Amino acid sequence: MNERDSETIAGLLDEMGFCEGSEADTADIAIINTCSVRENADNRFFGALGRLKKAKEARPDFIVGVCGCMMQQQHVVDKLKEKYPWVDLVFGTHNLHELPKLLSSVISEKRKRIEVLEESCGTVEGLPAKRLHAFKAFVNIMFGCDNFCTYCIVPYTRGRERSRQPENIISEVRSLAESGVKEVTLLGQNVNSYRGAEKIGFTELIYMLNEIDGIERIRFTTSHPKDLSDGLIDAFSECGKLCGHIHLPVQSGSSRILERMNRKYTKDDYLELSEKLRRSRRGISITTDIIVGFPGETEEDFEETLDVVRKVEFDSAFTFLYSIRRGTPAEKYEGQVPEETKHERFGRLICLLNGISAKKNKAYEGCTEKVLVEGRSKTNKDVYAGRTDSFKLVNFISGADYTGEITDVLITGSKTFSLFGEKTT
Ligand code: 5AD
Ligand code: SF4
Repeated sequence: MNERDSETIAGLLDEMGFCEGSEADTADIAIINTCSVRENADNRFFGALGRLKKAKEARPDFIVGVCGCMMQQQHVVDKLKEKYPWVDLVFGTHNLHELPKLLSSVISEKRKRIEVLEESCGTVEGLPAKRLHAFKAFVNIMFGCDNFCTYCIVPYTRGRERSRQPENIISEVRSLAESGVKEVTLLGQNVNSYRGAEKIGFTELIYMLNEIDGIERIRFTTSHPKDLSDGLIDAFSECGKLCGHIHLPVQSGSSRILERMNRKYTKDDYLELSEKLRRSRRGISITTDIIVGFPGETEEDFEETLDVVRKVEFDSAFTFLYSIRRGTPAEKYEGQVPEETKHERFGRLICLLNGISAKKNKAYEGCTEKVLVEGRSKTNKDVYAGRTDSFKLVNFISGADYTGEITDVLITGSKTFSLFGEKTT
């Protein structure tokens, strides 16, 4: 989501006539787009900001701007005012589109601007974007989240759920297809809550996008297990362009912890969903997010998480140590798990996950896979990288450059996080 926002920021700056620089020492403007989902992201922001201070001291005209989720929290803005008074521009997720106006006033009036709206004024259409890739693109379909998982800051920083109109999404995807994009990833905090019009929910949207010529692959992220409908599961067998991969965050395998997290499903609900998905699309890859050490998590609860991992056999997972987010209900929960216990559990989880990932990848050996080629390796000019339909990273040898194309690759080897292959003739 933040990467997509950064593409918009780059697009807005481009329209204002700025071009991309490579380092703070020579740039006229630096903008840091922040994420606040976990503590680690917060810390990295303050580190990155601190590193810009020298450039600002050497050249007072150098403009430093900060934006994104962290700015939607008053305590962060207060800290910036107190400890980083040299920052010129602060804006939030709800007024990203106002960047040109705010930046112009910083430049022409030479004054500091701090403007963070508490709530959004709906969805803004028609903003430019400087896309990172020519052949694959992120497409926002909805913003915000109403789920209020008790550990999560996102509903506070991204606001209430709001969906884009289907016609706007379709016209964006059509124009992406015309410009050569082959794969779109639909983005939303909880895509299953997409409601574009009375009869158009997320599943209907997928079927509509499946009809667009030129688009060959459709992905989406992120899906909430409590809202994953049978209709969407069926789409995996019926929509030819929908990729055989779903990212379905489980967070914990313990129904007791899931309740404390306000996730609104149980361990068994999740297991049932994964079975339905596997029946709907043979070989579907299921990836997930798991939080270790949520307040109150006991050894038994953690064992339940390991059990789900063993039963579902995730292709891969993003694993997180629980970190307190200020203002969320879980901040005040009793039973905060000691760091040492969190780390010990984390190690066991990773070990189990990695073994399963390696086994899953090994099963690809000898198969021919369709790979969307993303580019050439920086270190070996005969090696290219791309993704399978199931989102596996493949490094493969090819005599010719197929970047941007979907091509057949014979899988000849595998590791925990990637596959190797050769371009078939
Ligand atoms: N601590 C640890 N992980 C978190 N996530 C969200 N909030 C927290 C938190 N406070 C994880 C969840 C979510 C992913 C994007 O980040 O697993 O799915
Ligand atoms: Fe956060 Fe839960 Fe919303 Fe995901 S669904 S963004 S974890 S509140």
